[in-house]
Amino acid sequence: MQQAKVFDFIVVGSGIAGLNSALTLSSFGKVLIITKGKSTDSSTFLAQGGIAADSHQQDTVAAGYNHNNIKAVKQLVKSGQAAIEKLSHLGVQFDKQKDGNLVSSYEAAHSYPRIVHATDFTGREIEKVLIANVVNNKNITIWEDTPAIELITNNNQCDGIKVLMNNIPYTLFSRAVVLATGGVGQLYKLTTNPLIATGDGIAMAYKAGAKIKDMEFIQFHPTALLYDTSPLLLLSEALRGEGALLFNSTYKRFMQKIHPLAELAPRDVVSRAIFQEMKKGNVYLDIRFKTKNFILKRFPNISHELKKRGFDLIMQPIPITPAAHFLCGGIKTDLYGRTTIKNLFAYGECAATGVHGANRLASNSLLEGMVFSEQIQYCVKDLPPKSNVVKSIPRDTATIIPTLNVDTLDKYVIQSNEIKTQIRELMWQYVGIVRTTNGLTTAQKKLRKLQKEIKILQNTRTSFFEVEAMVTVALLITKAAQKREKSLGTHYVNE
Ligand code: FAD
Ligand code: SIN
Repeated sequence: MQQAKVFDFIVVGSGIAGLNSALTLSSFGKVLIITKGKSTDSSTFLAQGGIAADSHQQDTVAAGYNHNNIKAVKQLVKSGQAAIEKLSHLGVQFDKQKDGNLVSSYEAAHSYPRIVHATDFTGREIEKVLIANVVNNKNITIWEDTPAIELITNNNQCDGIKVLMNNIPYTLFSRAVVLATGGVGQLYKLTTNPLIATGDGIAMAYKAGAKIKDMEFIQFHPTALLYDTSPLLLLSEALRGEGALLFNSTYKRFMQKIHPLAELAPRDVVSRAIFQEMKKGNVYLDIRFKTKNFILKRFPNISHELKKRGFDLIMQPIPITPAAHFLCGGIKTDLYGRTTIKNLFAYGECAATGVHGANRLASNSLLEGMVFSEQIQYCVKDLPPKSNVVKSIPRDTATIIPTLNVDTLDKYVIQSNEIKTQIRELMWQYVGIVRTTNGLTTAQKKLRKLQKEIKILQNTRTSFFEVEAMVTVALLITKAAQKREKSLGTHYVNE
């Protein structure tokens, strides 16, 4: 019999939302963070542009096509400044002006410059500082390479979680579980999201019976480097915020005809325009009119990453493509991060507070991750005490380990990876930037078939749980898209 492990709180994920909820919870008890890969494997680490600060309720709702939960938007905006202050206090070095005030930049659909940043390494700076604070906190333990695979629930109450350690399943119990597993970009052939972004938390919550919402709203970032690796390198919207322009294959600008804000129109508008232009040839982002000094100082990360791939931001227009970037929906929560399952919380990109509506305003995601994960402090009093958790643990918590031989396991891993590729291709083709009713029906049929094929591959390798999560979430996105017959925000249907 396995010895069951009991914690006060278990947090799944080590991006901004997971790390900040762990820091918040550490005042109330022992926290275990489990994370699928290394601590820094997250979208947070890759974030470039920055974090929106300052009264931006109107812009958030306009970008979100009024589909937003206004109470959530108010909460975001009201607490934004405090979130930036907390990050600064923890040690994040945002870019400052000579007078000590933070530098603010422009991004799409913002009515004035209000995005604070750490050059174009904003996410890396935030992630690094949060991890340092977590590592120095005696009440927090972090387990890397420990994917969560299933929630333990009983009568709509979450009691813990199953994880894999060295490919062996273990059951962990706790007073509360926080899902902060990030987005779903890896369901698409072209994405800016890291490999961890396979929608695991959403799939686990859905299977446990939690309510999921707004899954049709997948935001495609207009400017990722047109290149052949996944994830694609993001070319931050901050480049367009600093004046970079878009050109089509005949080197003509095209955005002025489409939207009064031209290159800084909302992301969905720019992505669709580029998608159409790409039918005729490559589309380019050009910032060569800025000086070399400016470019290297303001965009050191992007310049460097482009150089590594053989491109030069100072000397040439850069070929770009839209790519899956952000999920506006997810696990339904209230303003405290409470899901529809008791003692189960969700924060960050996997959660749907409704704050983003049908299209997220640039640089609102890091802020969302900070602001809402603070809210867990108000829920601790309602959680069961640890002694109750210990008492309620079932006697035998051992999980049966399938006895597959190594050759079969290897074969199954290869097959799971092949199915992942098929999901990415079909989601890009049928459930992407421009959708059709027929395309969505085709996607649903193909996904159902893959779902059946996956069943026989059952084993205890991460690749199996990922592909299972991917097909589950792909179906959630497709079904939500089928239900919403009319275009709205990032969900665009062309008949
Ligand atoms: P993440 O940071 O993605 O973290 C998720 C964590 O969950 C990871 O640690 C992962 O390993 C873990 N995990 C996943 N599945 C499991 C599992 N089964 N078991 C255990 N652990 C698991 N937003 C902005 O506001 N401003 C920006 O400038 C900006 N730039 C961006 C640039 C890029 C390239 C990308 C991809 C996104 C950007 N975004 C930006 C969006 C923003 O970075 C993300 O939405 C945000 O960081 C999500 O934070 P999170 O904590 O919810 O998830
Ligand atoms: C970017 O820097 O363009 C990404 C910002 C975001 O996703 O909010």
